[in-house]
Amino acid sequence: MYPSHRPRRLRRNAAVRRLVSETTVEPRHLVLPVFVREGITEPVGISSMPGVVQHTRDSLRKAAVEAVEAGVGGLMLFGVPQRHDAVGSGATDPNGILNLALRDVAAEVGDDTVIMADTCLDEFTDHGHCGVLDSRGNVDNDSTLRRYAEMALAQAEAGAHVLGPSGMMDGQVEAIRESLDANGFLDTSIMAYSAKYGSAFYGPFREAVDSQLQGDRKTYQQDPANGREALRETALDLDEGADMVMVKPAMSFLDVLGRVAESSSVPVAAYQVSGEYSMIEAAVGNGWLDRRGTVLESLTSIRRAGADIVLTYWAVEAAKWLSGTSSSEQGST
Ligand code: PBG
Repeated sequence: MYPSHRPRRLRRNAAVRRLVSETTVEPRHLVLPVFVREGITEPVGISSMPGVVQHTRDSLRKAAVEAVEAGVGGLMLFGVPQRHDAVGSGATDPNGILNLALRDVAAEVGDDTVIMADTCLDEFTDHGHCGVLDSRGNVDNDSTLRRYAEMALAQAEAGAHVLGPSGMMDGQVEAIRESLDANGFLDTSIMAYSAKYGSAFYGPFREAVDSQLQGDRKTYQQDPANGREALRETALDLDEGADMVMVKPAMSFLDVLGRVAESSSVPVAAYQVSGEYSMIEAAVGNGWLDRRGTVLESLTSIRRAGADIVLTYWAVEAAKWLSGTSSSEQGST
């Protein structure tokens, strides 16, 4: 007549729910990706990412201060240069927009937060690929590694604490580590985009960085159908010296994130990418989803799946919501 098991007992009120809640999201877990564009005097909105902008150098400094005050764990910088060329010269130029912005942010908040840099050529090349091309137009892995090694140095010199190689070239972590070590940057860390998938969810990012890409990245980014490959990529990156590893995107790869988190001996990050942001914002904008509840549930899910660190465009807003709240009620509305 009576059920012999009653799991509802542990959900009966907020106090008991708080006591048994397993997963927390704290501001320190969140990293804010930011875009800084060369040659603009006012921030430019990104239409497919409502609420996100391409910063001027000046507005980026202010955004960095706001993020640090909100308690976020770090910032990930992406540059949007005015000029592009075949080898992505702007990436290694000390006066390239990303390196200038790294200097600015390092001077402003470098002692108070973790400054990360996207170590990838796609924002800087005129063909939009993450590497340099060979004579037949294919992405040339090993000459790209030489460019990454130079780019890593420029970023470390500019004050980046953590480099995020996101180009999915074979051997990129080792090439960057060797370059850093040979030049005395022994304390500059590498957060490897180990399992980065060729995902449709990067769509809005292409607008955010004025991407020049024709075609796709399928010869270097992973096939969304493959889970085991992510474990291989992670193992290789750990062997090459990655200090942290990442799975990207987050929400459509939570199973992969869980497997990587189980097998990794270093902290694991997940990147909640532009399309994940935009689809929730679009639904919120239509009145179909509650913003706070949906965003916090998405972040909680990514943490529950195994992410120590979450890169998210909501980092500052979420950090403000989360300060002082208990996790068990984080997702409730
Ligand atoms: C490559 C890079 C991309 C993103 C981060 N780094 C784009 C791509 O691989 O096509 C996507 C991030 C996002 O969608 O939010 N430098």
